[in-house]
Amino acid sequence: MKSTLLAFLFLSALSSQLWLGAADASPEQVVDTSGKKLRAGANYYIRPVPPARCDELYDPRSPEYGRCLIGNGFVLVRIGNKTCPLDVVVVEGFRGLALTFTPVNPKKGVIRVNTDLNINFTIQTSCPSNVWKLDDFDASTGQWFVTTGGVVGNPGYETIRNWFKIIKYDDDYKLVYCPSVCENCGGLCKNVGVYVDTNGNRRLALTNDPYKVQFQAA
Ligand SMILES: *[C@@H]1O[C@H](CO)[C@@H](O)[C@H](O)[C@H]1NC(C)=O
Ligand SMILES: *[C@@H]1O[C@H](CO)[C@@H](O)[C@H](O)[C@H]1NC(C)=O
Repeated sequence: MKSTLLAFLFLSALSSQLWLGAADASPEQVVDTSGKKLRAGANYYIRPVPPARCDELYDPRSPEYGRCLIGNGFVLVRIGNKTCPLDVVVVEGFRGLALTFTPVNPKKGVIRVNTDLNINFTIQTSCPSNVWKLDDFDASTGQWFVTTGGVVGNPGYETIRNWFKIIKYDDDYKLVYCPSVCENCGGLCKNVGVYVDTNGNRRLALTNDPYKVQFQAA
């Protein structure tokens, strides 16, 4: 009896230490292109790095040159003949549509690396939700595409496809799908990158190659 109690006390001392240790080691805060901390719920553009194929487009007289200066951005498009949800693609020559990030703990005001979060396009469309969601496996292309139609919050098995993370990558960042919102929920853990489909759409999909991005305040 006594030893059980001691063991319990020891365990709780140990776990509170672990907890304190974890609190000390909060993951690094994500910063935007001007070095400011990313805020939950604020509007940002996700900007691929480097912008367009800039190295090739050195001629200022080329129409491509202007696109290169503006860079690329993330937008919503309708792919195939389904009405909703819209899919996420990268386009050239446009900074993209503004997005918000909501961390798994919505009380946290800042966005940190390696932390589950929801990503929502701020624009209103004819579809009910523009929150990022991993689509079902597409057998015809062998891809896991990123689509929309997700919900914000409710971490757990039912929402497992809605959670993404920002990871430090060199001096910039990358996005990953590697949710930790529920244990033993299956092991998909991959980079979010670009897959160019047969129609030339640069669709967001899970990739082996990381896709380097920055966050620009909108
Ligand atoms: C478009 O919809 C029709 C039926 O509604 C379906 O048979 C066809 O495969 C769809 N096409 C594409 C490209 O999804
Ligand atoms: C996503 O953002 C839009 C525009 O701000 C907002 O109307 C919508 O409620 C948000 N979606 C969720 C699930 O929070």
